[in-house]
Amino acid sequence: MMNIRVVGDQIGVEVSGVDVKSISDEDFAKIYQAWIDHNVLVVTGQELTIPEFLAYSRRFGIIKPHPSKSTRHPDYPDITLLGVNKFGPDGKLNETIYRRGAEGWHTDGAYEKIPFKATQLYALAIPDRGGDTYFASGYEAYEALPQRLKDQLEGVVGAFTYGTPGLLNPEDEDWKPALHPIIRTHRESGRKSLYFDRLKIVCLQGLEKTVSDDLIADLKERMIQPYGQYVHKWSVGDIVIWDNRCSYHKAAGDYPPEQDRIHWRVSIKDWDAASVPN
Ligand code: OGA
Ligand code: MN
Repeated sequence: MMNIRVVGDQIGVEVSGVDVKSISDEDFAKIYQAWIDHNVLVVTGQELTIPEFLAYSRRFGIIKPHPSKSTRHPDYPDITLLGVNKFGPDGKLNETIYRRGAEGWHTDGAYEKIPFKATQLYALAIPDRGGDTYFASGYEAYEALPQRLKDQLEGVVGAFTYGTPGLLNPEDEDWKPALHPIIRTHRESGRKSLYFDRLKIVCLQGLEKTVSDDLIADLKERMIQPYGQYVHKWSVGDIVIWDNRCSYHKAAGDYPPEQDRIHWRVSIKDWDAASVPN
């Protein structure tokens, strides 16, 4: 029987006792609502092929191939492989692959005109220690802002660019920043969240450079609220989906590199993004 259990105070909910290959529309509606309410949704104990993982992922929106072409699955461009080809031909650890997602707190896809609504990972191999994923609530970050900052940031737009060196092919690296409001109202929950990414933000538009730089430095300190966090300890067969519109995450980046930590990953956009090219 389906069981839905809240696992974090502000963020994180876990579903067990389901097979995502055959969830009824009625049960899926409950799962989807639990995700909207808790921002990070874990489904445990799944055995999936790639087409099955893709079919389940499409219940959340439209899958878009990730701009990092070198880490796409060779046969399924919708799938990004995490932790694959970690060692180069010379036997040296490829830090870009090993540390992907561990550069700091971030939200995925802020560099696109329509950012990823969600990112979903399915765990195929997990090290025996380390390798957790950390999550934090963007709603809590907004709530915790002093009123003067809430007022100052209302209507302010940030410019975001591609953050991680080494993942894009050289011909794709000339990235044009995308513009998004820093205070973001979630289409489905109606709640306001701080939409910020310390790795990708270039500037706050329309503000003097010193003012923009100072605000960015200030927001870096304010984006993570300790009580708004959830840490996921992975098991093989876990599916975790997070809402990039209202949460931040980072990989711990601390597991023994000689061990495997492998996920299938999809980037999911909202349904209305179908006709927008990035
Ligand atoms: C990502 C990411 C975190 C992890 O895939 O976008 O940040 O723990 N992953 O692998
Ligand atoms: Mn990420």
